[in-house]
Amino acid sequence: CRIAVFASGNGSNFQALLEASREGRLGGGEIVLLVCDKPNAFVVERARQAGVETYLFRPKEYARREDYEAEIAARLTELEIDLVILAGYMRLLTPVLVSPYAGRMLNIHPSLLPAFPGTDAIGQAWNYGVKVTGVTVHLVDEGMDTGTIVAQEAVTVEPGEDVDSLTARIHQVEQRLYPQVVKQFAKGRVRVNGRKVELG
Ligand code: GRF
Repeated sequence: CRIAVFASGNGSNFQALLEASREGRLGGGEIVLLVCDKPNAFVVERARQAGVETYLFRPKEYARREDYEAEIAARLTELEIDLVILAGYMRLLTPVLVSPYAGRMLNIHPSLLPAFPGTDAIGQAWNYGVKVTGVTVHLVDEGMDTGTIVAQEAVTVEPGEDVDSLTARIHQVEQRLYPQVVKQFAKGRVRVNGRKVELG
């Protein structure tokens, strides 16, 4: 199973997926491409060190989202990508990418969706004062964190902890959960029936 990861930032999830792949924990999934819209993002350095091909683009150089997405889609086709994994990719997608990868494109979000979609979900949940939050892996559609939910794990806000500690614990859950879910997709062990998904 050939995988492309889309990311815009630090890339800790990218790294976790790479390590899972190398250690044989990704169901035969292999990360063959990083797609990144931010040339200075640390994830680009991670890919360079790991020898993963990187497709860099600058959205401002294109008139429309569909234009850069068509170029990305062409590269995904050339590389015979089976699965697209969004990991901190900070852009919405159009049907140019969503349609060909329907049911084969995942995102991870640091809240229990549908609560707190969008940016800074951990800060949103923290400021709201929730006692339980968590992590969601979902299929990608054109909306903001609206696709069919594939997996969720709850994280309880501990008495007395601060937002940095909560953030660190949520990231730990992400880095464990995402490779587990990607493995099920790589192995083809996923049944999608409308908004209902079964793994394993
Ligand atoms: C993660 O919290 C992910 O859930 C969100 O963006 C963050 C990316 O972190 N979509 P990283 O770049 O993988 O370290």
